[in-house]
Amino acid sequence: MDLKKYVTVVEGWPKEGISFKDITTIMDNGPAYKYATDQIVEYAKKVGAELIVGPEARGFITGCPVAYALEIGFAPVRKPGKLPREVISQEYALEYGTNTLTMHSDAVKPGQKVLIVDDLLATGGTVEASIKLIEQMGGEVVGCAFLIELEDLKGRDKIAKYDIFTVMEY
Ligand code: PRP
Repeated sequence: MDLKKYVTVVEGWPKEGISFKDITTIMDNGPAYKYATDQIVEYAKKVGAELIVGPEARGFITGCPVAYALEIGFAPVRKPGKLPREVISQEYALEYGTNTLTMHSDAVKPGQKVLIVDDLLATGGTVEASIKLIEQMGGEVVGCAFLIELEDLKGRDKIAKYDIFTVMEY
């Protein structure tokens, strides 16, 4: 299946000069969503994932069906103030300012093989912060899987020592 046919490119959103890749038109199409998920499921099997970690919010709709298919768990990475129990936090730099991401401090077990799943690899800030959170808990990041990689933004360079799988590249 040519999955790119199901990505809607929205020019000038959320601001001028950005060519936004809208994946909701993958998700609202049953066969396309299943096909996209299946690519990541196969990769997850190959790397022996025992837990899927997905960053809010599109990492949930990309990562949860992978966890379901493999009958393994899913742990969310969330923005501050969203998780009810003890959390660990990781700050990362944006173009202007910083962002913080959190996980429940018991979400990953020491030695657990973790696959990070998200819709998009852009600058790599989100995945890099997620890796730090997982490793702080003693988890082993066995791979990072994305539906889309924006190659010009070179996010891949930030996570060069990890295994990376991308379904589509732009
Ligand atoms: C988007 C996307 C990734 C991240 C990628 O999430 O879903 O998580 O940005 O960008 P990066 O590689 O430059 O870090 P966003 O922060 O827009 O949140 P959302 O999924 O809740 O819309």
